[in-house]
Amino acid sequence: MTRDRYDPITQTLHWLVAIAIVGTYALGLLMEDLQGPTKALMLGNHMSLGVVVLGLTAVRLGWHAVAPKVDSVPASQPLIAWAARMAHLALYAAMVAVPLIGLALIFAKGRDVSVFGLVTLPSPMAANRPLGKGLEEVHEIAAHMLVLLAGLHAAAAIGHQFWLRDGTLGRMVPFLPASRS
Ligand code: HEM
Ligand code: HEM
Repeated sequence: MTRDRYDPITQTLHWLVAIAIVGTYALGLLMEDLQGPTKALMLGNHMSLGVVVLGLTAVRLGWHAVAPKVDSVPASQPLIAWAARMAHLALYAAMVAVPLIGLALIFAKGRDVSVFGLVTLPSPMAANRPLGKGLEEVHEIAAHMLVLLAGLHAAAAIGHQFWLRDGTLGRMVPFLPASRS
């Protein structure tokens, strides 16, 4: 059976991950030019929240495999529906890749990762600082691409809802009407 809006678990995970990504990104930008204990504190929270993004994305992908399927947005052209699917795929890829590269870069610097002081992920490799530096650049570029893509995605969702008035946003927001086929 298909349905016209995402189920409550998908909606909750979508918004939790979106908030966590914005928070992790903001911390990443803010800590960049800092030094000392303030930077260490922000980096610790950045890494912890980034690991939460990775964990929630894994739960989300697992749930996606078994969750009730939604219909594609009614009246959308096949090309638009395909573009939306590709954008979602690219978002999922970036949501996995950015935190994984973050983990790889800090492990390459020979450091363990403590997740909010609750769990420690030990570095599985010997320190390799040039690799760590290189991965830091890749992490930064990939993070900007993730947020750019998410921004375009959000703009498309808002445009569909309020300009095309096809109820796209209502598929992910419980209190808005969703389009019906
Ligand atoms: C969705 C998840 C994440 C996002 C959006 C993100 C984003 C960012 C951004 C924007 C920066 C600043 C780059 C710059 O301008 O120099 C940064 C730096 C960094 N991130 Fe992440 N990050 C994420 C996850 C992680 C994770 C999981 C880790 C490690 C466990 C991590 C480790 C780092 C480190 C070590 C830096 C460099 C800090 C420095 O020394 O300046 N990130 N990240
Ligand atoms: C970091 C921020 C965000 C990320 C990573 C993200 C990611 C995603 C992904 C991967 C999907 C596909 C769901 C699936 O089929 O499994 C999706 C769907 C959706 N997102 Fe987001 N999203 C973000 C922010 C937003 C924002 C800010 C809005 C609204 C303003 C929004 C509105 C929607 C809507 C309406 C859908 C359903 C689209 C459809 O049915 O074709 N998202 N999002």
